[in-house]
Amino acid sequence: MAIHDPRILIVDDEPAICRNCVIILTKMDYEVKYALNGYDALKMLEAEPFDVVVTDLKMSNLGGMEVLRRLKETHPETMVIVITGYASVSSAVEVMKMGAFDYLPKPFTPHELRSVVHQSLVEREMLLQNQRLMQKKVRLKSFSHQLIGDSPKIKKVVSMVQKVAPTDSTVLVYGESGTGKELISRAVHANSTRKDKVFFAVDCGTLSDNLLESELFGHAKGAFTGAHTLKEGIFKLADGGTVFLDEISNISINVQSKLLRFLENREFLPLGSTVNQKVDVRLIFATNKDLKDMVAQGFFREDFYYRIFVYPIMVPPLRERKTDILPISYHFLKQFNQSFGKRISGFEDTAVTRLTEYDWPGNVRQLRNVIERAVILCEGDQITLKELPLVGDVADIEQLIDHIPSTNDELKRIKKEIRRRAVAKVEKNFVMNALMKNNWNVTRAAEKVGLQRTNFQSLIKKHHIKIPRHPRSDS
Ligand SMILES: Nc1ncnc2c1ncn2[C@@H]1O[C@H](COP(=O)(O)OP(=O)(O)OP(=O)(O)O)[C@@H](O)[C@H]1O
Ligand SMILES: [Mg+2]
Repeated sequence: MAIHDPRILIVDDEPAICRNCVIILTKMDYEVKYALNGYDALKMLEAEPFDVVVTDLKMSNLGGMEVLRRLKETHPETMVIVITGYASVSSAVEVMKMGAFDYLPKPFTPHELRSVVHQSLVEREMLLQNQRLMQKKVRLKSFSHQLIGDSPKIKKVVSMVQKVAPTDSTVLVYGESGTGKELISRAVHANSTRKDKVFFAVDCGTLSDNLLESELFGHAKGAFTGAHTLKEGIFKLADGGTVFLDEISNISINVQSKLLRFLENREFLPLGSTVNQKVDVRLIFATNKDLKDMVAQGFFREDFYYRIFVYPIMVPPLRERKTDILPISYHFLKQFNQSFGKRISGFEDTAVTRLTEYDWPGNVRQLRNVIERAVILCEGDQITLKELPLVGDVADIEQLIDHIPSTNDELKRIKKEIRRRAVAKVEKNFVMNALMKNNWNVTRAAEKVGLQRTNFQSLIKKHHIKIPRHPRSDS
């Protein structure tokens, strides 16, 4: 469904008709505006988007036929419903041929108007969904590292990847653990001119300071005890390609300084050597820590921070892009079906609800593990709740409370998580209660609880509350 209230534009040169239509449709929780001629309507359509235009056919200043023709050129996804007092078979056929959604002869009842607008919105949603599917297929084809998801947030990430990939810019990918930072870094490489050269991933978290330095820069024979032979460093081996430095919050100030120098001109001195080496390497950094915070605490060089913060890509946690959960689940289902030779076709409704309502503190990686286990456990045609035992929001709050954190970081994360979930629960109950007491009338419910309608509406969206769409008895 559209993320905003459906927006409708009425176009008629009789003000009384416009006002009537506005009253009838506003009761359906649509946002309705009107224009008194075709010319004004086109101006409004240029300035702001509308989902549906209901237009009169005969008007003095630009008629409905012309509005329809121009709209189909400029906003093909806007549904147009034509109303007219001069109903005739030939004009009906003509407007339908030109791409109108439907045709409504005057006089019409409020029910007829509401019904045709509602149908046009359903049709529009279907068209948009089809378009999205097509776009997704096209986009993914050009991505050798499939980044699944269609939420606005992941689309923004994809678009940032596409923009920066062809350049040689240094990229910093940051976000919570398991959000897809490495996948995104690989996608940057795969979509760059270096794609046929090496992508070298270095986990800075697991190497000691000295080892990391000699791995990256290499060393001369005899540089230190045990350096029996010359060793080429990763930067040399990756010449022409990309080096991915993962979890850079673990790099010591000493190695940060050396990397800073390397970033200036791509030159470095292997340990124990006197000869500078120059290479052509692109660098991508990743971290799940707040580097700014580390700078403030003196663990991270400020100049190094600014040097790598040239093109930051923030990967949002999965709970902030919940519409991606299902597509990604199906992606993993397909993958594990193949691995385990199964033919599970999908997820039962209750399983879908669980998957989409859960908050995924471990993000996509956790989702992947959960689906893998579910595929192994599942013996039927569809994955059911039974195979998703760890996933359950309410039980998890209790689990979180009972959990004993072993580090301060973990304590902080758990405190934040408990607070967030408790607040979410209270908020959702509050909204549901207000809606139910007011017969699902959003405007009235908002008024009663003392919230602005738009703020109340954001809470409805935030908690994925579905309002039953039926004409209410008072309309
Ligand atoms: N949008 C996505 N579509 C498909 N698979 C994804 C997506 N995002 C992440 N994954 C998969 O989820 C898993 C975790 O991703 P990845 O290793 O890139 O995360 P990360 O952010 O680097 O995690 P960490 O911080 O723990 O290192 C991988 O198997 C990856 O392929
Ligand atoms: Mg990673």
